Amino acid sequence: MSLVADLPPLICVVVTSAELGGAERMLVDLLQGIPPSRFRFHVVLPRLGRLALELDQLHVSYEVLSFGGNLSKAGRSGVKAKAALGAVLDVVRYLWLYTRLVVRVKPRLVYTHGLKAELLTGIASHWLRLPVVWHLHTFVPKDAWLGRLHRYLQRRTRMLVANSKAVSAGVLPPASSKTKVVYCGVDIKAFLPLSKSAAEESLHLTPDASKLRVGMVSVLAPWKGLDVFLRAVQPLLRADARWQAMIVGDPIYDTAGHQGYDGVLKQLACDLEIADRVVFLPYQQRPAAAYACLDIFVHAAKKPEPFGRVIAEAMCMQRAVIATAGGGAIEQIESGVDGLLVAMDDVGALRAQVARLMADATLRHQLGLAARSKVLRQGSMAQFIERMATVLDDAMGTRPPRAGHSNTETRHRAA
Ligand code: GLC
Repeated sequence: MSLVADLPPLICVVVTSAELGGAERMLVDLLQGIPPSRFRFHVVLPRLGRLALELDQLHVSYEVLSFGGNLSKAGRSGVKAKAALGAVLDVVRYLWLYTRLVVRVKPRLVYTHGLKAELLTGIASHWLRLPVVWHLHTFVPKDAWLGRLHRYLQRRTRMLVANSKAVSAGVLPPASSKTKVVYCGVDIKAFLPLSKSAAEESLHLTPDASKLRVGMVSVLAPWKGLDVFLRAVQPLLRADARWQAMIVGDPIYDTAGHQGYDGVLKQLACDLEIADRVVFLPYQQRPAAAYACLDIFVHAAKKPEPFGRVIAEAMCMQRAVIATAGGGAIEQIESGVDGLLVAMDDVGALRAQVARLMADATLRHQLGLAARSKVLRQGSMAQFIERMATVLDDAMGTRPPRAGHSNTETRHRAA
């Protein structure tokens, strides 16, 4: 009995996506960085995917609890009327199985990532007497019904973690002491500026010192503005043969309308007659080389980006960054100092700033240097891990181990 009491507290992590978007990559950072002497984790996934492969490598236990066909496809604006009944049945089934899982696993805390996980664990908290922490990676849904339900369930959570001030502003009441803003950390050793030729080699691109690249590293989803990017750079590529565009990423979400978006973008590149000037690379598990290949990094989200982890990574890689002015991007970039901000969903505005940077290598260099030094000052992984560990401790009412605790063998496996 005393053995069980001595084990670190068990946290059940419930996630919405089985793939590796920004939210899940942040979770992996956390699981990798927190010493196993501090917490144990058990992850609940909607299906097997890239996240499960990462968990295998980290020796973190997990199990699959499917959302079911209709609920999987439901997006932030709800579900199509046809699928509504099926989605309700999926919710009931999930809640039943989730309740049994929690009773069996007996965690001290439930910690969620993603909207579906928030809503489902929030509903179940009516009968499961367990503290719940939501890690908010995106804005509270705009849809009236979903937004109201979300706000109602927020009151049942022990703590809310927002990845930016912009995201926390949507939480009610925004300034409550249970809402914490914790920016994602960047692993400054993994995102170390490296030479372009070494990066090209590792990505199997033909090394060519005369080639310059402007590109995006992004989940391929319509709201990320990859179409705006292609339209913005089209005349610039045609006017200057040295430049190439690059798009790195996959469509990863199960939500309706997101699958097959890579095909849509390739077709757009053909329609714009720049197919031979755009390189498409799949999702990169270790994306540092992709950033290193880019002379200009663009983040063209058409809607406010909740935080913009890729922006922080590109800044850490000393890239000249252009991002659309919304959400967390505004908190990360001081325009003209460590990057450039442009209006969202505005082809002309983006084109003007890309053209400006294409023409000015000195400015690219200056912005890159300032960007990296800002991330080194503000965004270290160790700070992020410690802040998150404190949130989890506070939510459970557990105290962190005293300094000098003997079991410190994996203080920082991520670093
Ligand atoms: C989500 C958000 C992104 C954020 C990431 C990590 O993927 O869309 O903006 O960087 O979560 O919190």
